[in-house]
Amino acid sequence: MDKLLIQGGTPLSGEVSISGAKNAALPILCASLLCAEPVRFSNVPHLNDISTMLRLIGQMGVEVTMDGNDGLIVSSRGLNNPTAPYDMVKTMRASILVLGPLLARCGEAKVSLPGGCAIGARPVDQHIKGLQAMGAEIHVEHGYVLAKASRLKGARIVTDMVTVTGTENLMMAATLADGETIIENAAREPEIVDLANCLTAMGARISGAGTDRIRIQGVERLHGATHAIMPDRIETGTYLCAAAVTGGQVRLTNTSADYLDSVIQKLREAGCAVVAESDAIVLRAPPRLKAVSIRTEPYPAFPTDMQAQFMAINCVAEGAAVIRETIFENRFMHAVELIRLGADIRIDASNALVTGVPRLDGATVMATDLRASASLVIAGLVAQGDTLIERIYHLDRGYERIEEKLTRLGASVRRVR
Ligand code: UD1
Repeated sequence: MDKLLIQGGTPLSGEVSISGAKNAALPILCASLLCAEPVRFSNVPHLNDISTMLRLIGQMGVEVTMDGNDGLIVSSRGLNNPTAPYDMVKTMRASILVLGPLLARCGEAKVSLPGGCAIGARPVDQHIKGLQAMGAEIHVEHGYVLAKASRLKGARIVTDMVTVTGTENLMMAATLADGETIIENAAREPEIVDLANCLTAMGARISGAGTDRIRIQGVERLHGATHAIMPDRIETGTYLCAAAVTGGQVRLTNTSADYLDSVIQKLREAGCAVVAESDAIVLRAPPRLKAVSIRTEPYPAFPTDMQAQFMAINCVAEGAAVIRETIFENRFMHAVELIRLGADIRIDASNALVTGVPRLDGATVMATDLRASASLVIAGLVAQGDTLIERIYHLDRGYERIEEKLTRLGASVRRVR
């Protein structure tokens, strides 16, 4: 299993390009199941989660062709097996995103329940309830969601909580439904807007994406389209934190500050100068950051996917900060590993009190989930001496060529096989 060896202490400096967003690309690839014509994508990130999704739709009869370095052409004309088997779903919860499109296009779907994952129970009841409201017959048997509907019917759906993939699944299903669907309490994440833009290019009639009420007027069929995946705001935020904690100065290109208001505000509070350009962000950090408290909430508030990275920067900041996680019940697993590096963190249920220490010391640590891995990388970059991060397959799910990008910024990072 690959490990990452980081020798900390170098301020990051230079320019690096941000990849396409994993959390936009995954639902958008599923959207291509909705039509028989080829859909052409660009800015698709090279990530293990994307390969998993391509394998998953590939075994359904979908044809995927590479198109240049970061492009894909997905043709679902031959879609003949609307099934997502456990073996493929178990490694990636986002596989549930095939449920809505398969049901809408094929009238049936058999999708393995994603089950729990390290950061929390993460049920999919809202996905199922929403599809049932649209007339689907759904049973859960032997760990599989079995769904049928001759044609989905438009409905007014009020979700019990704000769910990102839940909103995406229902929005995709509704594009081919008979009549109008309204999703209330919809998630407002930029990735939902990106998905809506792609669906609209495919002929869907959607309004309100990016607000908490999305209206979808169902159409008979969708058609082929071309779509560029939006930049990854979480990858962007992670590199901003890495630069900030090392007292560095970086310019991140092919990205936008537009989706990162809450994160940039916190970085400024911590003492960084952040300048937004039209498709780039420049950050200049002071020698030592000030501790900043955060509370995770659905977009546009502070993202749970940036919580672990901010815990890492608070570990060496001046002062103390409280980190409150309100989205997932078990998302502090990185804290124990950060403590191994010398951090002072006290956990009380969903609150973490982080008191900054003057320095962290390199050690061997274990990555437990995707963003936890990112926080260990950030801590390793500022720790004295060597940090060896084990189980970095988590990192490869969501960060494209991370060691290459960090090396370009002057860090000493090496993959050990
Ligand atoms: C998405 C993101 C993930 C991010 C998360 C929250 C993707 C592929 N993943 O995950 O990176 O951390 O949003 O911003 O986009 N819930 C239920 N029932 C449901 C659905 C959700 O109880 O049917 C709960 C979850 O357990 C969680 C909360 O709602 O506590 C929010 O989860 P949700 O927004 O659905 O997260 P994901 O879409 O899985």
